[in-house]
Amino acid sequence: MPRYYRYLEELRAEGVDRISSGDLSRLMNVTASQIRQDLNNFGGFGQQGYGYNVDYLHDEIAKILGLTRVHPVILIGVGNLGQAISNYVHFSRLSFEIAGLFDINEKLKGREVAGTKIRTYDELPDFLKSHEVDIAALTIPKVHAQDVADDVIKNGVHAIWNFTHVDLVVPDDVVVENVHLSDSLMQLSYNLTEREAETSSDEE
Ligand code: NAI
Repeated sequence: MPRYYRYLEELRAEGVDRISSGDLSRLMNVTASQIRQDLNNFGGFGQQGYGYNVDYLHDEIAKILGLTRVHPVILIGVGNLGQAISNYVHFSRLSFEIAGLFDINEKLKGREVAGTKIRTYDELPDFLKSHEVDIAALTIPKVHAQDVADDVIKNGVHAIWNFTHVDLVVPDDVVVENVHLSDSLMQLSYNLTEREAETSSDEE
């Protein structure tokens, strides 16, 4: 669904109001039947002979993905990765906003990243009491990950965007999304190795 959403955002930006399943399949490099199957799972938004209404499909997928309201995000650990993520320009376009940045390093206090001032970590409990926060992004060293996760959960956060290489233990009412660039790179390496094996067996 996020991939469909991304393409539909681009189509909308280009002023396209309608697309056939064939054109969408060519654009996204998936079969038209896969598209029908994916979208049928969510009620099927196409019409025979018409294709898909881009605005309508975009808005329906936005509802499915919970993107019809803005999700305030705090980010903890404003080092190399934390700063890169905070500067990610598409955040607000995707219905997420950085509500606060926190770091244990006192020297970073007051410094601005992407228009938001960094607060010290000890300000976090009060901040969470007075601000509505949906998501906490963790970009801290892995040794602190579980403690920091416990802190944010204790203060009412129910979703963690976890960049640390730790499998967090969380209560059932908390959702965690792990993001590991290295996993993606290993997947690419695997695909490359498979492709090389196929090519060499074709040549034999
Ligand atoms: P960094 O050292 O540049 O930044 C870490 C920041 O966290 C520092 O500013 C530090 O003061 C702060 N910090 C440390 N303990 C804290 C605590 N208890 N509370 C609040 N702030 C705290 O490190 P970098 O390169 O930004 O990496 C951060 C984390 O992200 C590491 O765990 C690293 O392994 C992970 N990482 C994950 C990637 C992924 O694809 N998931 C990619 C790159 C890094």
